[in-house]
Formats: sequence, structure tokens, C-alpha cells
Amino acid sequence: MKSNAIPKHVAIIMDGNGRWAEKRSLPRSVGHIAGVKNIDIITDYLFNLGVNTLTLFAFSTENWNRPINEVDGLLLLFKNYLIEKVPDLIKKNIGFNVFGDISFFDEETQSLIQQYSLVNSDKCLNICFNYGGRSEIIRAINSFVDKSCVSEAELRSALYTKNLPDPDVLIRTGGEHRISNFLLFQIAYSEIYFIDTLWPDFSTDELQNILNDYAITDRRFGKI
Ligand code: FPP
Repeated sequence: MKSNAIPKHVAIIMDGNGRWAEKRSLPRSVGHIAGVKNIDIITDYLFNLGVNTLTLFAFSTENWNRPINEVDGLLLLFKNYLIEKVPDLIKKNIGFNVFGDISFFDEETQSLIQQYSLVNSDKCLNICFNYGGRSEIIRAINSFVDKSCVSEAELRSALYTKNLPDPDVLIRTGGEHRISNFLLFQIAYSEIYFIDTLWPDFSTDELQNILNDYAITDRRFGKI
């Protein structure tokens, strides 16, 4: 047994907003609104605890295939998040990045994202929006077209995560046991927790249970 204490980087697949709303006979959009409220709670908890990096999967490259009103609702929530919530993070000296192809967003959204990503801090919240793990790797490889050989360090430097450490802990809420194209390169040695609770109901108590388990996990990284 080994004490890992506090993870440096936590990544979360926030699944279950739609089912949370459907269980209450509410539109799925209400589930996404509840999901954003829980982002605030979980983010505060983790940064207060001393976690440096938090990466949240909010919208995948495949999510464009959802009904147009759900996609529009998620885009609007994202823009409101950038306008209403991110300035508070920056005031608390937490940096902010968006991982994904931001060229799909309107100009105001793109310029907010670019402006926030200039903030330098040892803590950061990364929101993956219009993100796919495979496209991230392909994008990185394409940045080396003139090279015959690329080292792991070079490939890493071309990923969205650049010089951030890999996630120590990956949590997926909502009961599904899959990775869904999230951080495919970076989670090679992450401790993975699949939790049945739907994202809007995922509590700081459940999160702390995961962190307690992580703290006593023997991480071998392929060694014995
Ligand atoms: C999955 O629920 C959740 C998402 C599509 C991503 C999470 C999105 C949010 C928390 C809101 C938007 C985020 C920001 C940063 C503004 P689902 O719809 O797949 O739920 P289901 O599996 O129950 O259908």
C-alpha cells in the first residue's frame, strides 16, 4: 500500500444529465443545467483540496449528432459558463483552457477562450468541448508532417494537455463502463472509477470516497 495523498490531475466524464432529467419527467436541458451547477461544487471542492488540474468532458466531437435543440442548449450553457463563471475562477487564480476545436464557435466565444487561456497559473480547469481523443492525437501527428520520427515528449507537447501531468484519477459518472474517446493518450496509467450516480447527483462525499481509495492505491506504472 502506498499513499498518493492528493492527485495532481483529476479528469471527469460527467455522464447522466439526460437520464437525471428524464427520471423527473423534465426536458434533458434541465439535466444539463443541473450538471453545470454540479461543476461549480465539484470544481470548488477539488481546487480547495489542493488538486492542481481538473479536466472535464463537456461535449464530444460526436455530440453534434444529438437533436439540434439539445446541441444549441449545450452551446448556450457553455457560452454562459465562459461569461458568468470563468471570471470568478480567474479571480481565484485558477487558469482556464478549452480542449477541442474551437473554430466551430462564434467569434465572441472564441475570443473569450483565447483571452482566458493567456492566464498563467499552477492551477487550471480544462473544459473539453468539441473534443475527441482520436482527433487530438491525429492533430498532434499532423503537426509533425515533416519529421520522420517523433519522440513521446514531442507528441505530448502537441496534445492539448501539453506539459500538464497525465490524469492520476479518471472518474466516469452515469453507470457506463467506457472511455468514450476521452484523453486516450493521457489515461494510460490513470486510476479509473466508474460510478453509477448520475452527474447532477454526484456528491463531494462520493468524490472524497474515490480520493480516499486513490490515496491507498498501489500505482505501479508497469513495474512490480
Ligand atoms: C452527459 O449527459 C453530459 C454531457 C453531454 C456533458 C456534460 C455537460 C454539462 C455538465 C453541461 C455543459 C457543460 C458546460 C461546461 C457548460 P448525457 O446527456 O449524455 O446524459 P445521459 O447519458 O443520461 O443521456
